[in-house]
Amino acid sequence: MNVDFYEKLWMWFAGAVIVVFLTMVGIATFAWGLRPPSHVETVDPTQLMSDPRFAQQGAVTNSDGSVTVTYVAGMFFWLPAEVRVPAGRKITFRLSAMDVTHGFQVAGTNINTMVIPGYVAQLSYTFERPGEYLIVCNEYCGTGHHTMGGRIIVEAQP
Ligand code: CUA
Repeated sequence: MNVDFYEKLWMWFAGAVIVVFLTMVGIATFAWGLRPPSHVETVDPTQLMSDPRFAQQGAVTNSDGSVTVTYVAGMFFWLPAEVRVPAGRKITFRLSAMDVTHGFQVAGTNINTMVIPGYVAQLSYTFERPGEYLIVCNEYCGTGHHTMGGRIIVEAQP
């Protein structure tokens, strides 16, 4: 069977493109840790504020030194709007929405999850650098979407 030179060339090229793409996906997944958060837990969105898991928002230090931060998202706010957490320790975020779908993104990190009414979004992150981190909503949720911000203050540990 005769395969034309240019046909061969394009076949190798197509094969190389696939290898490059798979390598990029592999690096992003295993080296950078970019992967979608997976945590299936439901909550009644109409009772969110009285649900024991969400009645108290904010940061709580666990017995092992890690911190759990509970957030309620609504039009157009994050509760709490500002939170203080320690650097270099595992922070677990637990979020749910009381009205519509919001998007929890922390600028300068890979924290990014949808916050869907009826579901609990959960993810963990360790802030290595102290400083002020901006929370934005990245799912269009209504006329005040662009004003829906918040802050995480990461404090250096003595
Ligand atoms: Cu909340 Cu956009």
